[in-house]
Amino acid sequence: MRPELRQAVTKLFKYLLITYAILSVIYTASYLVATYSGTSHDFGGLLPKARDAHAESDQQESLSTHSNEQQHQQQEQQQQLGDHSVAWSNAHGAVQVLPENLIMSKVFSEAMGPSNMTPYFFRAKETFDKEDITMSTLVTRNRFLVLSRLASNYKGPISATVHVMDDETKDEVITELQELHSSNPDMQKYVDLHLIVDQYDRQFNMWRNVAKLFARTDYIMMLDVDFHLCTDLRKSIRGNPEIMDRLREGRTALVVPAFEFDNLDDGNDWRTFPTKKDELMDLVQEDKIGMFHKGWFKGHGSTNYTKWYETDDLYKVTRYDFSYEPYIIYKKEGSPWCEERFVGYGANKAACLYEIFLSGIEYWVLPNDFLIHQTHRYPEDARRKERQYNRKLYINYREEVCLRYARKFHASGEWHTSRADNLKGECEKIRGFKKTMMSTIN
Ligand SMILES: *[C@@H]1O[C@H](CO)[C@@H](O)[C@H](O)[C@H]1NC(C)=O
Repeated sequence: MRPELRQAVTKLFKYLLITYAILSVIYTASYLVATYSGTSHDFGGLLPKARDAHAESDQQESLSTHSNEQQHQQQEQQQQLGDHSVAWSNAHGAVQVLPENLIMSKVFSEAMGPSNMTPYFFRAKETFDKEDITMSTLVTRNRFLVLSRLASNYKGPISATVHVMDDETKDEVITELQELHSSNPDMQKYVDLHLIVDQYDRQFNMWRNVAKLFARTDYIMMLDVDFHLCTDLRKSIRGNPEIMDRLREGRTALVVPAFEFDNLDDGNDWRTFPTKKDELMDLVQEDKIGMFHKGWFKGHGSTNYTKWYETDDLYKVTRYDFSYEPYIIYKKEGSPWCEERFVGYGANKAACLYEIFLSGIEYWVLPNDFLIHQTHRYPEDARRKERQYNRKLYINYREEVCLRYARKFHASGEWHTSRADNLKGECEKIRGFKKTMMSTIN
């Protein structure tokens, strides 16, 4: 080849290389912008692509007077439910995009599915301190107002799973939810609302996991939405360095004792509820209020109300019962999730708390804070059958959890540490467990 020609070819090659480099930088940048826009950065490598909640709620406000447009808007919105993608990035910046529905079907693979799920259907406008406590709760249509009230009372982060049945009432219910959201500024400010639309009623533990998963602070309180927070919980916890250290360590769950008025009518108006322990104690002395569900002692008995009445100090739950279902504050990361095979009434919350306890998390009762149940009428229809079903499931589940954690502690060298104490105490109550366990781990 002649030298001039070779030079020209080299030049051309250089230009091509530079053009290629520039184009790939532009392509990658635009791809990343498209993938990452409008996302939260709480998830590290896992970045769901979501709509802008602010734009959405603003739109709702301006649309509230045009019902036709609103309907149209709603149809559009419903088509988008679950229609997102999730991008996984590795250390070298390579990004793999997977459909959100696929990810969710694995995340909740023990639940009935598929579910149509929209995390952050509404996203709280407030920014929260990482160490704050998120109220993690479940809401169905008959509790929308109670949620709104919780937002105004708590004025702190709330992560709420809202379940809507996928039937002919769906649009009406979602409209109701949107109206409630636009009518209460505290809802807009404090509530992250995750919407599930499917045909499966009462998948409580799956709903709990959704609320926990998308909570944006380190600590959550697993709360039933109809309980009123009587005291300033955050103040007593966050203002106490010793308690905060316990939470940070992840080995402590704080129990907030739950109460119920004897005369259900006294529980109608939260504005009349006591706000200090001594006010509550007056009502206790007058026999007007007592432990929640005292007809089912095992549900809250392990809190030991006798002790609570006497003490001013944080104390440990020493007599656990597998039916215990207190309201607890605990660390989101590293704690077990709620078993999603429990669907319907009975044992679902107890199973969730049982696994948390067995995993080595101690339960400590807060001495000055308390909750009071706000009266509502329970629907009794489906409860009895579901309870029977779940009782049966729970018997097997307890054995399973005992064996699973026994193996885990043995394998990880924690069997002889205090982490295994809860398990040893509880699982020995299961007939034949000790023998099986010893033959498994030895
Ligand atoms: C509850 O606490 C009281 C008072 O401290 C104590 O005497 C009692 O033994 C405790 N009961 C249980 C079941 O632990």
